[in-house]
Amino acid sequence: MQGVARNFFTLAIGYAIVGMLLGLSMAMSHDHAQMPTHAHIMVLGWIMSSVFAFFYHLVPAAASRLATVHFWLSGISGIVLVAGLFMMIGGNPSIEPVVAVASMAFFVGMLLFAWIALGTMWKSTTVASPRNAAAS
Ligand code: HEM
Ligand code: HEM
Repeated sequence: MQGVARNFFTLAIGYAIVGMLLGLSMAMSHDHAQMPTHAHIMVLGWIMSSVFAFFYHLVPAAASRLATVHFWLSGISGIVLVAGLFMMIGGNPSIEPVVAVASMAFFVGMLLFAWIALGTMWKSTTVASPRNAAAS
């Protein structure tokens, strides 16, 4: 694993550690108020970043310069989203516009991924997972 795939996987591991620490602290304190933050760190952070990492690893033709833009857009907006959510639930409602903008930016990142991934998958000559690269 290298390049944008490795970047996404590194980010995923970071989310998993932070999200599970938050889950543990919620469980130990019996205060589940931060459940939406924990849930989003785990699924939007750990799971989605892992999916992106494995996709770019298995389909190297998709790991273009645009994929690097996808990494930075999803990475920055995702972190601002969950950090903002943590502060919002923690009693700072004024941060909500920041969370809203970050959410929309994260969605744009998803649209960009759809463009990159589907564009590559449907261009049959460039679909090259390590296993079928030799065959195509
Ligand atoms: C150290 C491990 C973990 C701990 C201690 C932990 C703890 C918690 C706690 C205390 C809640 C709140 C439950 C409630 O109030 O109903 C929760 C919810 C949740 N956790 Fe975790 N969690 C852990 C790992 C994970 C992992 C690995 C994932 C996903 C990959 C995950 C995804 C979720 C989700 C999606 C919810 C929200 C569930 C709902 O909407 O009802 N958690 N977790
Ligand atoms: C554009 C970014 C997103 C926004 C604005 C958003 C917003 C929300 C909102 C408003 C809730 C309800 C929270 C509550 O009732 O306490 C929610 C719950 C949830 N979302 Fe998202 N979401 C986003 C992205 C995602 C993504 C990408 C995933 C999964 C990959 C996801 C997974 C979940 C899960 C598992 C829950 C239930 C956990 C809970 O109740 O806290 N969300 N989301």
